[in-house]
Amino acid sequence: MTDPVIDLRGVTRRYDEGPPALRDVTLTVRPGDSVAVLGPSGSGKSTLLNLIAGLDRPSEGTVTVAGTRVDRLGEAASARYRRAHVGLVFQFFNLLDDLTVRDNVLLPAQLAGTPGRAAREQADRLLDHLGLTRHANATPGRLSGGERQRVAVARALVNRPALLLADEPTGALDTAAGEDVRRLLTDLHGAGQTVVLVTHDLRLAESCATRVVRLRDGRVEEDR
Ligand SMILES: Nc1ncnc2c1ncn2[C@@H]1O[C@H](COP(=O)(O)OP(=O)(O)OP(=O)(O)O)[C@@H](O)[C@H]1O
Ligand SMILES: [Mg+2]
Repeated sequence: MTDPVIDLRGVTRRYDEGPPALRDVTLTVRPGDSVAVLGPSGSGKSTLLNLIAGLDRPSEGTVTVAGTRVDRLGEAASARYRRAHVGLVFQFFNLLDDLTVRDNVLLPAQLAGTPGRAAREQADRLLDHLGLTRHANATPGRLSGGERQRVAVARALVNRPALLLADEPTGALDTAAGEDVRRLLTDLHGAGQTVVLVTHDLRLAESCATRVVRLRDGRVEEDR
């Protein structure tokens, strides 16, 4: 068996107040898996994603991604880890409105120290692949929601991450734009990309995921 991309063991995340956001979660994701994380509001979905991304730390347990013990990283190492291994897509795009579409996509590559020419070629290839070339010099504010989310996906992929993480990627989109992003994520998975997405969108889960993990009250209720 190949090494897992994600390996969570006995992960609990407690806050000072309230019940734990996650309780004793053990989860393995293998290369090429596409996992949809479902569950009611407050069940711990975003907490799980943030722990995998190294944006948060567990109270107990271990988080290993692409061989790195993510739960042990300091701030700088955690940022480096994300740049090298993880692409992140959020509900509200999180694009920089002062930069052009191309520069938004280029930024993670520049931060990772990719030589300028190689970074530009990779960014332009992604923009072309995602049908965004004609918007390359526009700022994101001029684009539709679906186009912005495609830019966010291009940015997430520019460093060729082992893992694409998405938190409600269709949550802010209308039906047509949602369909567009669903198709894009499904194609990426078809091309071998390992994907973990949090969603309330059952159509997205059905079209893109090979596996569904259902959380309830911070526990894995179902994994199929
Ligand atoms: N910084 C925090 N401090 C205290 N409690 C928090 C904090 N962040 C999250 N929680 C709690 O942890 C639980 C899980 O939150 P989480 O954001 O992971 O839920 P979710 O499944 O993503 O919900 P949604 O579908 O609404 O996005 C919730 O009860 C939430 O109130
Ligand atoms: Mg959430």
